[in-house]
Amino acid sequence: MASSSSTIDLSGPTFCVVSGASQGIGRAIAVEVSKHLGPNSLMLLLARKKSDLAQSASLCESDNVKVVYTSIDLCSASEKEMYDVIIQGLSGRKVTDFTTSLIFHNVGSIGNLSIETARMENIEEMQEYFKLNVFKVISLNTQFLKIFKDVEDRLVIVNTTSLCAIKPMGGMAYYCSGKAARAMYFRVLAEEKKHVTVLNYSPGPVETSMIEQVIEEAVNLNLKEVFTTFRNQASLLKPEVTAKKCIKVLLSRKFKSGDHVDYFDDE
Ligand SMILES: NC(=O)c1ccc[n+]([C@@H]2O[C@H](COP(=O)([O-])OP(=O)(O)OC[C@H]3O[C@@H](n4cnc5c(N)ncnc54)[C@H](OP(=O)(O)O)[C@@H]3O)[C@@H](O)[C@H]2O)c1
Repeated sequence: MASSSSTIDLSGPTFCVVSGASQGIGRAIAVEVSKHLGPNSLMLLLARKKSDLAQSASLCESDNVKVVYTSIDLCSASEKEMYDVIIQGLSGRKVTDFTTSLIFHNVGSIGNLSIETARMENIEEMQEYFKLNVFKVISLNTQFLKIFKDVEDRLVIVNTTSLCAIKPMGGMAYYCSGKAARAMYFRVLAEEKKHVTVLNYSPGPVETSMIEQVIEEAVNLNLKEVFTTFRNQASLLKPEVTAKKCIKVLLSRKFKSGDHVDYFDDE
């Protein structure tokens, strides 16, 4: 991991958006990051399930941190709706009010696990998958960059990636190809925007509903077995554990912008 000179300071007023914040890794990241935010900070939590978002928000609220949350389907939301949701999240504050502004692109889905890779042909289904996991992530990020264009050097962008973005996993062609495309977009962005900090964080195998879905739905027997073994041997990470590492990696800022950093990488 190449080192970088600029550090990330969250001790001032900070704005922080987290997508997929209603459960799992997203909720854990939101809670962990909230502990590091200075006075007059503001968080915006996004996902579809409002009551779960409310619970995440209550876990993040503190004397330093005000939290707003919006139920939004990030697959169907228009570009304008995404722009507006960030503006509303700012609650009347100016972008220059914040010493750092972060966005965690954590939203994600696993894709169709019941189709063999050699039999994939449902273009509509593939489009829906790429829409949520790649295109709309890019678009939300673009709205964020538009809104914060005058303070680009204060921006931190984190993509929740996966080992599957860089290593093929049989039975997960949707997921692997989506994660690879998404991570490469963020790498290209980092290449172009030298003043923006970009991290592709790979959380390791984590005990969330996504893993339950893999175990239940995978037709690829090796895939099913790998994750069933992980679960049965209690080898899955708790969301809070990987979230802590994510924020540690971010704050220590030893990575080169755009890097893929895994939970299991040395610090
Ligand atoms: N679990 C793992 O082992 C693992 C490993 C590597 C990477 N990851 C990545 O980590 C991220 C979080 O996954 P997780 O394991 O925590 O899964 P999860 O528990 O299923 O969480 C997914 C999150 O995305 C939100 N979401 C899904 N579809 C949405 C939509 N259409 N609009 C808005 N929000 C939507 C969900 O909220 P609502 O349902 O409320 O909308 C939820 O908050 C994903 O990007 C995943 O690929 C997970």
